[in-house]
Amino acid sequence: MEVINRYITIKNHVDGAPHDSDFDLTSSPVSLSLDPASGEVIVKNLYVSIDPYQLNRMKSHSSSQKSSEFAVAITPGEDIDAYGVGKVVASGNPKFDKGDIVAGLLKWGEFTAVKPGGMLNKLDPMGFPLSYHVGILGFSGLTAYAGLFEICKPKKGEKVFVSAALGSVGNLVGQFAKAFGCYVVGSAGSKAKVALLKEKLGFDDAFNYREETDLKSTLTRYFPDGIDVYFDNVGGQMQEAAVSNMNINGRIAVCGVISEYTDCENRAAPSMIDVIYKRIKIQGFLAGDYLNIFGDFLSTTCDHLRTGTIQPLEDISDGVESIPSALINIFRGQNIGKKIVKIAEE
Ligand SMILES: NC(=O)c1ccc[n+]([C@@H]2O[C@H](COP(=O)([O-])OP(=O)(O)OC[C@H]3O[C@@H](n4cnc5c(N)ncnc54)[C@H](OP(=O)(O)O)[C@@H]3O)[C@@H](O)[C@H]2O)c1
Repeated sequence: MEVINRYITIKNHVDGAPHDSDFDLTSSPVSLSLDPASGEVIVKNLYVSIDPYQLNRMKSHSSSQKSSEFAVAITPGEDIDAYGVGKVVASGNPKFDKGDIVAGLLKWGEFTAVKPGGMLNKLDPMGFPLSYHVGILGFSGLTAYAGLFEICKPKKGEKVFVSAALGSVGNLVGQFAKAFGCYVVGSAGSKAKVALLKEKLGFDDAFNYREETDLKSTLTRYFPDGIDVYFDNVGGQMQEAAVSNMNINGRIAVCGVISEYTDCENRAAPSMIDVIYKRIKIQGFLAGDYLNIFGDFLSTTCDHLRTGTIQPLEDISDGVESIPSALINIFRGQNIGKKIVKIAEE
């Protein structure tokens, strides 16, 4: 038996902001008759993750493409892997049965043929919606948790600043930090986002960076006693402004530099004199390096969800054809919380 699989490809490398014309919706047949010894699994994709790093994979050149197996270059015309949750519809692998719900590296398409050794695990939803396992209980959540607790190591009462604070990772960083007992301020790109941060997510304060002309003095206004922890999602001028407002022994987790992804001329040039004399620790990290704390992260986050201490924030579009616009809109600040595309009903 065969099914027709519709999937997204890029037509060409994408070196600036992505546009609809950069993408194609392609289709090809997938056989559901697997040799029982093949080790292969066919997954019907249910939810796939939309993440800014995919743009760096689409560029003709990016140093990121050589640094991690998850960040390798995407070739025009080929299918695109992405984290997601799905259901096994055919299995030639004794570890999986038809009907299993799984999470792992799927494709931006309707079906994924997972080769032996591919990143795929059975998923216990633990009573939560499957989409949570793509975002808050998946890699976005792990990124926020690992960056905040393993790299920034906050102390109760410390002052935490997070940029792109209503995004997938940022909103969780703020919520984790608040739940831990820190003072948290976030930046985001609209008045409506600022209101959500303060009124729905319990941030102590928030500001719209697009309305500010001098980010250094903005941060001094919001942090008159300085910043202890900066969780950097954007890079660029915000990073420079944060460094100049850091306290002695401050910590900065460089999670992402999204303002630099669409504009390679835009590079943060923070004051190294500040870094030295204030003994600031700046560390980049990749969530994939913290799978060893996934169990701890999952149980803590599930507890927070069950007690209502942390709220899930999801932004879900429907259908494989909506994947390009979902990615494009991330770079226009049009997502609120974790951007996910729902591909099919369970
Ligand atoms: N290190 C890791 O392992 C890891 C894992 C996941 C994500 N990341 C990184 O973490 C960051 C956040 O990722 P995410 O998945 O949570 O995305 P996201 O925050 O949900 O979406 C991106 C947000 O960034 C903001 N943005 C877009 N262009 C911008 C610009 N030029 N300047 C300032 N802000 C801009 C927009 O919000 P506004 O309305 O606020 O502008 C947008 O909604 C990204 O840099 C990503 O690459 C790293």
